Amino acid sequence: MGYAEIYRGWKADPEAFWMKAAEAIDWDELPSKALFADKAPLYEWFSDARVNTCWNAVDRHVEAGRGDQPAIIHDSPITHSTKGITYRELQSRVASLAGALRAKGVGKGDRVIIYMPMIPESLEAMLACARLGAIHSVVFGGFAAHELALRIDDAKPRAIIAASCGLEPGRVVHYKPLLDKAIESATHKPDFCVIFQREQEVAKLTEGRDVSWHGFQYGVEPADCVPVEGNHPAYILYTSGTTGAPKGVVRPTAGHLVALNWTMKNLYNVEAGDVFWAASDVGWVVGHSYICYGPLIAGCTTIVFEGKPVGTPDAGTFWRVIQNHKVKSFFTAPTALRAIKREDPNGELIKDYNLRNLQALYLAGERADPDTINWAQRHLGIPVIDHWWQTETGWAIAGNPLGIEALPVKIGSPSVAMPGYDVQVLDEGGHPVKPGDLGAIAVKLPLPPGTVPTLWNAEARFRKSYLEHFPGYYETGDAGYIDEDGYLYIMARTDDVINVAGHRLSTGAMEEVLASHPDVAECAVIGVADALKGQVPIGFLCLNRGCNRAHGEIAKEAVALVRDRIGPVAAFKTACIVDRLPKTRSGKILRGTMVKIADGEDYKMPATIDDPVILDEIAEALRTLGYPSKG
Ligand code: COA
Ligand code: AMP
Repeated sequence: MGYAEIYRGWKADPEAFWMKAAEAIDWDELPSKALFADKAPLYEWFSDARVNTCWNAVDRHVEAGRGDQPAIIHDSPITHSTKGITYRELQSRVASLAGALRAKGVGKGDRVIIYMPMIPESLEAMLACARLGAIHSVVFGGFAAHELALRIDDAKPRAIIAASCGLEPGRVVHYKPLLDKAIESATHKPDFCVIFQREQEVAKLTEGRDVSWHGFQYGVEPADCVPVEGNHPAYILYTSGTTGAPKGVVRPTAGHLVALNWTMKNLYNVEAGDVFWAASDVGWVVGHSYICYGPLIAGCTTIVFEGKPVGTPDAGTFWRVIQNHKVKSFFTAPTALRAIKREDPNGELIKDYNLRNLQALYLAGERADPDTINWAQRHLGIPVIDHWWQTETGWAIAGNPLGIEALPVKIGSPSVAMPGYDVQVLDEGGHPVKPGDLGAIAVKLPLPPGTVPTLWNAEARFRKSYLEHFPGYYETGDAGYIDEDGYLYIMARTDDVINVAGHRLSTGAMEEVLASHPDVAECAVIGVADALKGQVPIGFLCLNRGCNRAHGEIAKEAVALVRDRIGPVAAFKTACIVDRLPKTRSGKILRGTMVKIADGEDYKMPATIDDPVILDEIAEALRTLGYPSKG
């Protein structure tokens, strides 16, 4: 069956489609049906089943005779080490860790925050929580203490599992002091913290609160898998919204298992025994779905890579990993390829490696620019597949399902809607537009299994952010169009979210931080085009009347403040002081127009602008910063 037939089949009978997909999962109690619509427009899937994620990701593969197959390969060019963990070893490590957590009181429904770098223990911590039915929330290591504290106060974890340090090229990230600072400033306090001591930096444990990863497992009884209800939250993953308060995306257990398992064969074309690599970080949704859960649920070998696309040690590192570990399907962000292309424009380093196992390259996280796709296709000689998804969905909304059928690639498009998603482009009034016309991209409800059913502790915010603008639809926050052949084109965000090196960041959150500077009266942050990172943030600051401090100094403090409060991942390096911000007569800052000026695009003078001269002042300020840039 081809894609069109499968998609039509899903649309005609979604219930049958998902019940069939559910057969690939090991259930403790089978679901009586797939969709639970009694709380519409909030939907759930497989709610009355009982199932355990860790069983499906680990134990069942040992039972099926895959115990000796590597489950995880850790490849760290930063520490010059490679290590494999078989499914059997993973099972015993995870059962022991889960047993130790249980002995300290962690059980089903308890939250556990995980703050760790790219080491196998991060996956083990996630799986140990899943084994107990505890709800993990992984916080990306590039976030600072304040962001961690926000998540502690929202998730209210019983425990926090952290590593002593992370390793960035040339820099040790001192996790433990960040963790201590976060706990100190948070209102909620965890019962205890588990610290994984890395040899690169051993942290001092806080007596009475911290236990060591190995020490607290001594002599404990390993834990078995605890079956949970299908709608039980598997995890919470915080993502950027329009304000400084991150949104806690909830991932429901059963739908997550069924949907991820479906994607491994149908979208990524891999099966048990194949090697799958997503070069992302466990702190992002890609890391949850395709470093940890997806490949393991499908019985693949997953790669945990601790390094960068360039500089660890060179732009050939990705190709080395693919060759050495016989990667079949590889997933990365376009920004990583742009970094490689910049250092190795002619793909010379690619020729040094034997990439015969590699069947396809998948890109997501940001818009894949045609130059990058063409470069990769030319030098790798395999299909380069753009696919589009979000933290909220957990798996691709649109893609090219190579495991079903390789559809013709249209460069600039992440191809077509996956079964489960009825994607439509709507005008402001919520009416579908003609093919080729731009509009807001929305998905007709219900969303498929595995997608966000609500936000943690914030159902009203969930309804307001996603369901209210277009009743009957989920609003993706992306704008774009669909062509005559049903191919989607994702053009921009409709909110204040920007995408920096494939990382989703909120300009609103940065503005909140900048506004807290004592000399700042008002500010605006915009995302401007960047040849490497896709977008980078720039801050415009208006100072309090009477402030006569040197502008350069204040700008420097502003940059340091964002790094300290949000973290290095914000890549906030530029702040400039201006007299006034351009606004509409009703006081709304014209951020969109500022972006167009910075990017050198044509713009229409907004009819409602209060004082057009301010735009000239902004253009002048941007020129002194080198925008619009030529690159
Ligand atoms: N812990 C602590 N700090 C981190 C971190 C982590 N896990 N990840 C990134 N950082 C820091 C970096 O050290 C850097 O700090 P600096 O300002 O001191 O240099 C900052 O955050 C920005 O990092 P990054 O966005 O990675 O930029 P870079 O300049 O170091 O590297 C690229 C540029 C393109 C090579 C890099 O962005 C990259 O590999 N991106 C891939 C993105 C990706 O996989 N995204 C996943 C979404 S699917
Ligand atoms: P995140 O939740 O961090 O995965 O970010 C999701 C957002 O990244 C989407 O809403 C898009 O704005 C953007 N995005 C992800 N994948 C793509 C893609 N393939 N093409 C264009 N934009 C993308």
